Amino acid sequence: MEKELGQNSPDIAKYFDKLLQPEDEILRSIRERAIENGLPDIQVARYDARHLEVIARAMGVSKAVEIGTLSGYSGVTILRGLIGDKKLYTFELSEKHAELARECFTLAGYKNNEVEIFVGPALENLDKITTKGPFDLIFIDADKANYVNYFKWAKKNLKVGGAVLADNTFAWGNISKDTSDETVMALQAYNMFVASDSDFRTTIIPTSEGLTFSVRVK
Ligand SMILES: C[S@@+](CC[C@H](N)C(=O)[O-])C[C@H]1O[C@@H](n2cnc3c(N)ncnc32)[C@H](O)[C@@H]1O
Repeated sequence: MEKELGQNSPDIAKYFDKLLQPEDEILRSIRERAIENGLPDIQVARYDARHLEVIARAMGVSKAVEIGTLSGYSGVTILRGLIGDKKLYTFELSEKHAELARECFTLAGYKNNEVEIFVGPALENLDKITTKGPFDLIFIDADKANYVNYFKWAKKNLKVGGAVLADNTFAWGNISKDTSDETVMALQAYNMFVASDSDFRTTIIPTSEGLTFSVRVK
């Protein structure tokens, strides 16, 4: 079964799907293009896509940063939530993924001045946009080993009242377990790091993947 909110309750998942129809034709097309082009089927779940859009809109976000573009699925949903002089800076390791994402952003109606993709390891490229900050929202969805490092960058480049969202922070059900798995340990370290930063107030939205949501309070 596809990962989704309510995966332990198929009836609720069906209800949610029917009521909110979180994946429209454009998002479906982006997901299908990714699969056709041999990209991994690892975009955010459609409910999380809706969460991103609604959170961005509720927070009045204009400038957002995303780490992990893939085919642009979550990027499009963030862009849909932006207001005013909107801009998404998104970072992707793979040129192949970035190329498809460019097509998908165009398909979704976004122009070059609204979305910019940086290709290469995000940690090496993030400083290219520091002069464009401070940012309103930073979404972390790649390279679990560096989640804490992305947060450190975010802290320096986020406005007070802005937020950092990090996906997969339930570590596929393993987040509370004693483990030697490096990816799970990196996610445990991330949650611990943000929870103990008094400049942020953090919660974890209990989606099936876990979405850690940290608002900068000072
Ligand atoms: C989970 S996918 C992102 C999904 C995307 N946010 C969405 O929901 O549509 C992770 C992406 O991050 C990219 N990636 C992996 N390591 C990276 C790194 N160090 N810097 C930037 N991107 C990276 C992968 O190539 C992959 O496309």
